[in-house]
Amino acid sequence: MYQGKVVFNIKEADNIYLLGIEAPKKILKSFKPGQFLKIKIDKRFDPLIPRPFSIHAIDENILYILYQVVGKGTKALSEIKKGEIIEFLGPLGKPFPKIKNYIICAGGIGIAGFGFLLQKSVNKKDFYPPEKIFYGAKTKNELVRLPFLKKFGIPIKLSTDDGSKGYKGLITDMVEKELKKNPQIILACGPQPMLKKIAELGEKYKVKTYLVMETFLACGIGFCMGCVIPSKKGNYLHLCIDGPTFLAEEIDLGFLS
Ligand SMILES: Cc1cc2nc3c(=O)[nH]c(=O)nc-3n(C[C@H](O)[C@H](O)[C@H](O)COP(=O)(O)OP(=O)(O)OC[C@H]3O[C@@H](n4cnc5c(N)ncnc54)[C@H](O)[C@@H]3O)c2cc1C
Ligand code: FES
Repeated sequence: MYQGKVVFNIKEADNIYLLGIEAPKKILKSFKPGQFLKIKIDKRFDPLIPRPFSIHAIDENILYILYQVVGKGTKALSEIKKGEIIEFLGPLGKPFPKIKNYIICAGGIGIAGFGFLLQKSVNKKDFYPPEKIFYGAKTKNELVRLPFLKKFGIPIKLSTDDGSKGYKGLITDMVEKELKKNPQIILACGPQPMLKKIAELGEKYKVKTYLVMETFLACGIGFCMGCVIPSKKGNYLHLCIDGPTFLAEEIDLGFLS
């Protein structure tokens, strides 16, 4: 585990926080977009298992994590103060695929890992920028980090369930409109029903579809079977070492709710 100092832990919206951790540049240089880290949230024993988070951004020696409070680990994380020391392990998992001519679809906190992809695709060397970003949330307040995302000059299409900003309805409706006009590769992260719909759209419009999956995670390095996902071939894939990004056609999506 590495150690880093918390430099900010700011509330971005109800239950959504942006955490900044100062860590040695040498360690941060090894992180690639799509990979994740595990944060040990409390030095005491509860919660015992470090929790996984995507890398939202890296600026010099500051690592940004964008997270939503859903349970006791993330609640404890939201209470961590500037100056406290945090332990983390990473990079874990595989980076995003190197793809061109693709769109991003993010639902809610699913936007978290795409910030780092935008940063790293500016020079079009290891990663390419998306053609468009589709980003949906329940309400306007939950569409977080817009000034940061807009900095990259990529068109962003927004939606909210209540119509408080952007299109009123599901972000997948907007993605479908786009695919009708211009079928492109999709890279998606968000809640399970959104991922299921995106996989259906991928099949309907015959485009390669990558889904960033979430499961419970324990060891994070392929030993415990805690993170397995059923594959179409009938065997299991480990999210922690084979993912978290998978081609939709490889996964048996029946396990999604
Ligand atoms: C590779 C990966 C990257 C992630 N990146 C981010 C990120 O950047 N930002 C972010 O906010 N979250 C991210 N998550 C999800 C985050 O890890 C969980 O929300 C967190 O572990 C919950 O911990 P907790 O102790 O607060 O919740 P718990 O008390 O453990 O659980 C609270 C509730 O959340 C549900 N839950 C917890 N973990 C998951 C999960 N992995 N999948 C589905 N439901 C779950 C439980 O069923 C329960 O209902 C990521 C998960 C993975 C696997
Ligand atoms: S979390 Fe242990 S095998 Fe993936």
